[in-house]
Amino acid sequence: LNVLTLSNLCLIVTVAVRILRLSVPHSVENGTDHVILDCEYNYSVSDLRLVVKWFYNENLEPIYQWIPKLNARHISEMLLGRLNLSYKVNSPDPYFQYRALYLLRPTLDIAGKYTCQVMSLAGHDQRHQVMMVYAPAKRFSLSQTEVSSSDVGVSCEAVGLYPRPEISLKLIFPQTSKQLLLQESKKYVNITRSLYSIWLSGWFREDDLPETNKIVVECEVSIPGTDYKVSKEISFYTGLTTSNRGEEINPTFTSS
Ligand SMILES: *[C@@H]1O[C@H](CO)[C@@H](O)[C@H](O)[C@H]1NC(C)=O
Ligand SMILES: *[C@@H]1O[C@H](CO)[C@@H](O)[C@H](O)[C@H]1NC(C)=O
Ligand SMILES: *[C@@H]1O[C@H](CO)[C@@H](O)[C@H](O)[C@H]1NC(C)=O
Ligand SMILES: *[C@@H]1O[C@H](CO)[C@@H](O)[C@H](O)[C@H]1NC(C)=O
Repeated sequence: LNVLTLSNLCLIVTVAVRILRLSVPHSVENGTDHVILDCEYNYSVSDLRLVVKWFYNENLEPIYQWIPKLNARHISEMLLGRLNLSYKVNSPDPYFQYRALYLLRPTLDIAGKYTCQVMSLAGHDQRHQVMMVYAPAKRFSLSQTEVSSSDVGVSCEAVGLYPRPEISLKLIFPQTSKQLLLQESKKYVNITRSLYSIWLSGWFREDDLPETNKIVVECEVSIPGTDYKVSKEISFYTGLTTSNRGEEINPTFTSS
């Protein structure tokens, strides 16, 4: 073998189809209009009989299969009616057109592991990513529960979430930007029809706090592993009479 044929050989070995990027969101809100799972690959002339397959969890049957050369697509029962079949990726190359899954209105039951597999006679490649689908709170409230002469109680509740949420109550001193976790008194996590409700109560003693004229109690609810995080606040003004101390102002509702 001379040097030239050796380098040719190397070239042949490295040109099999390869996945360059898999884009599957880590988390998506239930009922979002749509989500696109994309699988970018490159191929060469040696990639005869190219086939693109998507798998769900550990299922052996693909949920989607596309053979560009034959212009043939097969969709499993799981995705029937849930895919936008007219979606094409933005590329002039007909061997990329139908590689992506355009999932319409993702719901909780399609959360899981998605694997893209691309294969040809020359080789194959695959990548996977887990996609969580979460249900945001249907109801979320923070209220003052009890006021004795020196103790202030608050309770926070969020209803109808999935998967299991987390909750916390914080005391914020706006002047100094200091934060403290509130003393917890009781916490419930209930499951009704597969959805979680979470409830937390806490209290603080006004006498234990530094001299300040405004205290904010913040309740935060989040779902681990997702971008979901919402919060609400109640402001208290120390030194006022109890009847107008608890006032809910600017409840902040953020979810991204
Ligand atoms: C695919 O892309 C990779 C990285 O950009 C490159 O190294 C490889 O040669 C490409 N393969 C083909 C078949 O184009
Ligand atoms: C999920 O979204 C669908 C609408 O796409 C809605 O009908 C369903 O009630 C939602 N489920 C939850 C648990 O929020
Ligand atoms: C399906 O995809 C096409 C092309 O991207 C788009 O124009 C159309 O609005 C989508 N249909 C639905 C129902 O989302
Ligand atoms: C949640 O569970 C607690 C404790 O078991 C119970 O007291 C409460 O009523 C339940 N709440 C709902 C909404 O089911």
